[in-house]
Order: sequence, then structure tokens, then C-alpha cells
Amino acid sequence: MTDPVRAQYEAYPYPTRDPRKEARRLVVGSPGQLDELNHCLFAGRRDFTAPFRVLVAGGGTGDAAIMLAQQLAERGGDSEVVWLDLSEAARAIAEARAEARALTNIRFVTGDLLALPDLAPGPYDYIDCCGVLHHLAEPAQGLAVLAAALAAGGGMGLMLYGRYGRTGLYPLQGVLRTLAGEAPLPERITLARGLLEALPRTNWFRRNPFLGDHKRSDAELVDLLLHARDRAYSVSELLALLDGAGLGVTRFLEPLRYEPRSYVKDPKLAGRFESLDQRERAAVAEVLAGNMKTHVVYVARDAGERLARFEGPDTRPILPFHDGRQLAETARDKLSLTVEFEGLPITLPLPRLAPAILARIDGRTTFGAIHAALAQADSRLTWGRFAADVEALTEALIGANVMALANPPGATEETPGP
Ligand SMILES: C[S@@+](CC[C@H](N)C(=O)[O-])C[C@H]1O[C@@H](n2cnc3c(N)ncnc32)[C@H](O)[C@@H]1O
Repeated sequence: MTDPVRAQYEAYPYPTRDPRKEARRLVVGSPGQLDELNHCLFAGRRDFTAPFRVLVAGGGTGDAAIMLAQQLAERGGDSEVVWLDLSEAARAIAEARAEARALTNIRFVTGDLLALPDLAPGPYDYIDCCGVLHHLAEPAQGLAVLAAALAAGGGMGLMLYGRYGRTGLYPLQGVLRTLAGEAPLPERITLARGLLEALPRTNWFRRNPFLGDHKRSDAELVDLLLHARDRAYSVSELLALLDGAGLGVTRFLEPLRYEPRSYVKDPKLAGRFESLDQRERAAVAEVLAGNMKTHVVYVARDAGERLARFEGPDTRPILPFHDGRQLAETARDKLSLTVEFEGLPITLPLPRLAPAILARIDGRTTFGAIHAALAQADSRLTWGRFAADVEALTEALIGANVMALANPPGATEETPGP
């Protein structure tokens, strides 16, 4: 076996997962939560009971493939999820997880994503590629192969390492390579653990609170500190990579984190950001925040037309990762919600109706039905007043990736009378 990246993932499949735990919990996250990706790539209009084809490129031990396959199976459509990866060891774990869940909609393919057109040709409605492209000798080549496999109207969810959030890591990787670059991995793991213990408190890796994966297990330590090949991206570098493949960002996750105003409240200073375009704002925000160890993005060809919007009474709010009643309780007191991103709390002011609306969000009820329920108790609550609060609420919660919107498939926008 000559490819050092493949050898690493055969010996240490990533991430560490125990198929027996499938009985207890489904690992869910971003990208790939179905309502979130519908919001970010399909304007909230995708009907998942219709055929939906997914590729998980570099699927590892199966987190994304299992999450997507489980959700799609629950929607009852004719879906297929293709898991593709170099590592047979990772495949064995991913297959055992699928078996534990009796999932029959995953096809497992072992091989190099660069050979996708031969191994598992597209088109795909959705491609997940998380934590993979930055390990390729030529990430742009890998991304181009994936982009070519997208169906018209399809999109991708990507995760790439963030440059500034990984401060201190690459010099330490270099030291470990100098000390024992050629030694077998178990020996290098022991060496790394010893060196970590010995690091003075001034060391940048030790001072970086965002990097902690190595504490979980050997596979995570190898992935972080002893990787055969990895690089990180600033926002500008990430955007240039996407440009090269003809792709644009529909949404950074979480959007608020990529907005400089989230960090700088002084109006005079914040005013300086006004002249920046969205790309510049995201690049500035990354530097200001300093805590982005990864970038999670949804991308597509015609990125400008992909996001869901609040269109009227038929728009359905969804809280993919939260319970509406609980959020309502939290929001009631100060009419705000505080979200924490990698140790940094950000408080979102909410409109007056926020608690009442949040308490009624169950993923099935439309804004029209929520308005009708509230208007029963308060006959002066016109659609116009309600909609103004919905606009403010959706802006705040979508910014924190707490809310996603769904719109009826093929519907056009409508606005009822006041
Ligand atoms: C860090 S793991 C990420 C696994 C998974 N995507 C996740 O987020 O949990 C990287 C995975 O990419 C796979 N990989 C790396 N280069 C690849 C390539 N050229 N083709 C296919 N898979 C690759 C590795 O074998 C490994 O399983």
C-alpha cells in the first residue's frame, strides 16, 4: 500500500464509532440534516418522497451516510445514498452501522473519489464531502470531479479545515514529523502523547482552546496531529477553491459567525463593514472571530437562487435541532436567545411574538396556521403585524442555524391582505 492517506485510514478509521450505539442514538449534524439542506439548497421546496440520490464522498465510518439514509428512509421516498471511501476498515464499520439500523438504501463503494465517474457515476442531487478535500494532493481536482457529478439543481455540503482556528497545529505537526516522521503510527502516537504532556504553556497549540479532538482516542489524535497530508483554508482560500469549480456558497454555517457585525457592536466601527461585499465580510469575520476550526458550507452552481425565504402563510418553520416549546421558554424572559459558538456567546434580540410563535413550531404547522391560532386569542393581530415579527424572528434564528424554512413544492409567493 503506497498511499499514506489510505494507509492511515485503514489503520485508524475515522471517526471512532461503535455500531452497537446505533440502537441508542443517531448522530445528526451539519451539513446533512434534511430540513437544513432543503432550506440551503432547494429553497425549501424539495419533496423527499420523490427519488433523491446522494453521494457521501470520503464517507469514513459512516456518520453522514447513516444520518442521510436514516432521514430519507423515514420520509419514505425512493432514495439512494452512495458511500464512497478509500478505507476498507472504515467501510466495515459504516456497513455494520447500516446493518444495525436495517437501512437498505446505502450502496457501499470502496475507491478513490477521483475515479468517481467509473466507480459510481452521477448525477447526484446532493453530495456530502466533509473533512476530505483538504487531504487530497490536489483538492481542486477532487472538487471538480464532484462538481461534475452534480445533477442540475443539485448541491453540496462541504466541510474544510479553517486556517485561523487551527492556529498552532501545523508547526506541531512539523515537529512530530521531524522527530519520527518515518516511524510506525503506534510509535508516533506514543511520542505525540508524550510531547503534548511536555508542551510549555506558551505553546500555541496548547493555548488553542478550539482543538481538542486528540483527547478522544488514537484515531482522532492521528487525524489531528499525525496526518499524512492536510491543509487548512481561510475564507478567501475556500472561496477561490469554489470559484475554480464554478460553485458558490449558498450558506456558511452558522451564517451569523461569518458576519463582522456579530463581533463588533460599536456603530462607528461596524459602519466600516458596510462597504464590504459578502465575501469580504465573511473573510473579515473569520479573522475577527479567530475560532473557526472548520468551515461548513452549502454550495451550488447558481448559489444566489437556492435559499428558502419566508414567502407567506404556506411557509413552514422547522427547528431541526431544537424543541419549540423549550426555546419559547428560554426566549420568554428577556425576549432574546443566546447562542454559543466555540466559546463565544452571541445574544439575538427577538420580536414580541417570538415566544408564542416558537411554542407552536412543530415542523408541520405553517406560519398561516400559527397566525390563525394566535389571532383567535387576539383578534387585532393582523397578518401584517404577525408577518413583521416572523421576518425578524426568521432572520435571527436562521442566522444562528436554529431555524429552517420549507415551502410547498412548486408554489409561488403569496401575500394575503392585512
Ligand atoms: C477525516 S475522515 C472524514 C470522514 C467523514 N467524511 C466524516 O466527516 O466523518 C476522511 C475520510 O476521507 C477518506 N479519503 C481520503 N482521501 C480520499 C479519496 N481520495 N477518495 C476517497 N476517500 C478518501 C479517508 O479514507 C477517510 O475515511
